[in-house]
Amino acid sequence: MHVLSLSDRCILLLLFSASNIPTFPAKPSASPPPPPPVGRRRRLAVDYYAETCPQLEMLVGSVTSQQFKETPVSAPATIRLFFHDCFVEGCDGSVLVETEKENKTTPLEREAEENTDLSQEGFDTIKKAKSLVENHCPSLVSCADILAIAARDFIHLAGGPYYQVKKGRLDGKLSKAVNVPRNIPRSNSTVDQLIDLFSSKGLTVKDLVVLSGAHTIGYAHCRQFLTRLYNFKGSRKPDPNIDFKLLKELRMSCPEFGGGSNVVLPLDVTTPFSFDNGYFIDLEKNMGLLGSDQALFLDPRTKPVVMEMARDKQKFFEAFSNAMDKMGSIGVNSGRHGEIRRDCSVLS
Ligand code: HEM
Repeated sequence: MHVLSLSDRCILLLLFSASNIPTFPAKPSASPPPPPPVGRRRRLAVDYYAETCPQLEMLVGSVTSQQFKETPVSAPATIRLFFHDCFVEGCDGSVLVETEKENKTTPLEREAEENTDLSQEGFDTIKKAKSLVENHCPSLVSCADILAIAARDFIHLAGGPYYQVKKGRLDGKLSKAVNVPRNIPRSNSTVDQLIDLFSSKGLTVKDLVVLSGAHTIGYAHCRQFLTRLYNFKGSRKPDPNIDFKLLKELRMSCPEFGGGSNVVLPLDVTTPFSFDNGYFIDLEKNMGLLGSDQALFLDPRTKPVVMEMARDKQKFFEAFSNAMDKMGSIGVNSGRHGEIRRDCSVLS
């Protein structure tokens, strides 16, 4: 069981094998699709930038592989950032906004409570990638597309599948904290709530389980699972669905009162540094960290999918690639409602 403070994360994650770092081949050229008629849903395409910025994936790839070597925590940070972007107002880069030009006073998505734990390394990665892309293809590529490509790169760098990313998203013109709570699930969400939320985004029960497999890398703060350790559903007892040995270890790292507020633990307690199907194997052994994760093995609607993914890593990779493609298409902006931001953090 790996226990570490936030500042230790970078050091430990260096254990990711640098020798396995794949490279990113340039994609073949083809004509970009015409812009969509105003007011219609935008169509994404793998070769969207083939003429306007053919070297896009290589540019982003050079940043993500460097980040992965220097700060491997950028991988889970960016994957989660993409999820939080897509689930709130669609994949439109709105989670990246830090300031509005007209200095508006309503809080931004990033300031919502659900987003306060998004790690800085994800934002830094997108900033660096955007700056490099702007040097080569000024005002042509959206922040939302760069985030989608970077998330895919990190999945692959951490040992997961490589899939084609469709592009052509526009950046949103709105970023409001008030839109976040109803769209981002919580660590104590029930399976009913998770199924409802994912289905409201056009995602199936299988997509929900498979996408939760992103918790095969990355960390959670003690407070996200503290009640499972000490006071499950107000019982003053631990959650009966936690492996006893794991419970003891978690309690040592996360004391009931004070203490563990800054401590983070790996979501996949057995293979925390590789993007594999270990997360699902953990769930079968009652070794899930979050209540919302372990619940997927307890509910008859989701359990068979957990078992299928635990059995076959290749099946997980295929299903995960498909589900990421679906998640990456949520609420994509049409011409009238979007823009291409030059600075991802500033809303014009
Ligand atoms: C199914 C519902 C989900 C819930 C309830 C959930 C909840 C959480 C929570 C509570 C954390 C820990 C945050 C912290 O303490 O810092 C976390 C981390 C993470 N989540 Fe999820 N999540 C869900 C789905 C997803 C999906 C669909 C993805 C991506 C496809 C994802 C990717 C991640 C990653 C990579 C981390 C680690 C972040 C890091 O280490 O910086 N999650 N999630």
